[in-house]
Amino acid sequence: MDNGRYFNDIGDKQNIGKDEDIKLKQEKIKDLLKKKNAILLAHNYQRDEIQEIADFQGDSLELSVKANKTDAEIIVFCGVKFMAESAAIMNPDKTVILPNENAGCPMVDMITAKEILNLKAGYPDAPVVAYVNTSAECKAVSDICCTSANAVKVVDSLRGERVIMVPDKNLGSYVQRYTRKEVISWPGYCPPHKRTKPEDIKALKEKYPGALFVAHPESTPETIDVADHVSSTSGMYKFVMESAAKYFIIGTERGIMYKMKKENPNKVFISSNKGLVCPNMKKTHLEDIINSLENMKNIIKIPEEIRIPARKSIENMLSL
Ligand code: 13P
Ligand code: SF4
Repeated sequence: MDNGRYFNDIGDKQNIGKDEDIKLKQEKIKDLLKKKNAILLAHNYQRDEIQEIADFQGDSLELSVKANKTDAEIIVFCGVKFMAESAAIMNPDKTVILPNENAGCPMVDMITAKEILNLKAGYPDAPVVAYVNTSAECKAVSDICCTSANAVKVVDSLRGERVIMVPDKNLGSYVQRYTRKEVISWPGYCPPHKRTKPEDIKALKEKYPGALFVAHPESTPETIDVADHVSSTSGMYKFVMESAAKYFIIGTERGIMYKMKKENPNKVFISSNKGLVCPNMKKTHLEDIINSLENMKNIIKIPEEIRIPARKSIENMLSL
């Protein structure tokens, strides 16, 4: 019995059958967290064994809010770098640890602060909405942040007839479906989400009649067109919890299926595409958490001249 770990183990099957070792490491982490007055936050895509011991698990928006509210002195952020950076931007008096410093997000690297400023110069009347999947420098030159959970609301809250949205063109085109404003997008994208194609969904729906396809707004417009429900990762979780359907085709990183399976043993979850794995979200292992906490390393620090304007963009989002 693998406790559902199969779903997180693309290229990492060594976890199966090592439950005892995993338990020992998990206990060690719990002990370290307690001793150091630390909290462990985990994104919905993290490895099963990390989700199991997280103090709080959620989507980007929920994790930002949680990081903001905690009394803990140390935030161990199991996700990717931009998420830990957001926590550090909002909490300069706390220590924010990204257990594996190499856990990045390729979409973040698809735009720079200079490119945002150049784009803005072409549309001086348009506020800039930065997806949280951006660097601290990009947030610092933007007007407001958004996540996949609140992007439409953020855009509609802004003045004027048009907005610039960076860096995800797919999120931009998703928002364009629901807003009267003109959305000017940047051509960034998420490589794992791009892999799901409408043909995949058609084939799976034929194989599992009655299955509902649940997609993330980072999917391509053609894939969104065939979705039965579109939302952030936590929104997807809520949808499958509340739906009466039995079969679900999950159009996001397969780590999300750990909690879905665990809480819904009578429902069946099928990944929309075998390649829907985010290698960066899988970079963090239990050992990384132990090492970083024991040695207090991989601490995220943002220079004040970037942190202060970046904070304003995140605060503008959170105040909605
Ligand atoms: P969520 O905000 O929906 O958790 O998404 C974050 C992300 O990086 C999706 O690829
Ligand atoms: Fe970035 Fe895509 Fe991975 Fe999310 S799933 S962290 S957007 S690469």
